[in-house]
Amino acid sequence: MSEPKSTSPALPGAATTPGDVATLRAPPRHVAIIMDGNGRWAKARGLPRALGHKEGVEALRRAVEASRELGLTHLSVYAFSTENWNRPPAEIDALFDLLRMFVRRDLARLHRDGVCIRIIGSREGLSEEILGLIDEAMERTRDNTRLTLNIAFNYGGRGEIVSAMQAIARDVEAGRLKASDVNEALVSSTLWTAESPDPDLVIRTSGELRLSNFLLWSGAYAELMFMDIWWPDFTRESLEKAIDAFRRRDRRFGGLSA
Ligand code: FPP
Repeated sequence: MSEPKSTSPALPGAATTPGDVATLRAPPRHVAIIMDGNGRWAKARGLPRALGHKEGVEALRRAVEASRELGLTHLSVYAFSTENWNRPPAEIDALFDLLRMFVRRDLARLHRDGVCIRIIGSREGLSEEILGLIDEAMERTRDNTRLTLNIAFNYGGRGEIVSAMQAIARDVEAGRLKASDVNEALVSSTLWTAESPDPDLVIRTSGELRLSNFLLWSGAYAELMFMDIWWPDFTRESLEKAIDAFRRRDRRFGGLSA
């Protein structure tokens, strides 16, 4: 597959030429990625799907390294959605094994590199062993400030919002809050993603044009970028291209251009 489909550079408001530095937006601070296409990458090579996911972890390592080097403050990746429980048990096991391996093998290096790991998602349905691993990784790296890596695992955007609503409803029920106290800031601060700024850019690889329940609340104003490559082929250059295309877009947040 080819590299990212670019947005329409000729549209009004977009920087038009590579040298047009004056109109470039600030680079994104927080990039979120739907790492899609592992299965098709494997199928195209006659390999089992699990090997596609394994190569996906290599691409994730490259993405983390590139994010640090390119000065992002946050990288969020969609590693296992609540809908992924519908996959065959062997594939689910393979994805859990990859999480275990990633945390066990990469934790020390990520910690040394100043990466703060946060696993975002529901704890329901996860074993004590996985929860222990997750908690250890988060605890050990909590004070790191170079890059926050949010790994969305057992994550669903609607579930995240429902969980926040339940927490807020409990506070209202207990008299700690009034219904009129509920506002966007309160909801944002109650989500699993509360500790990160909203993503500026959401990338999805593999050419699919969907959000698939990823960061539905915090991604409300994110620029979306759909890239025609399978996730295992994602490189530092892919991230650079996406950031470059982001900087040529005009973000108005519902207002008018300057
Ligand atoms: C979507 O590709 C990808 C996933 C469901 C899992 C993504 C997971 C990784 C990249 C590795 C896991 C990393 C950690 C740290 C746990 P797909 O399988 O749906 O691909 P397809 O659409 O081509 O079938």
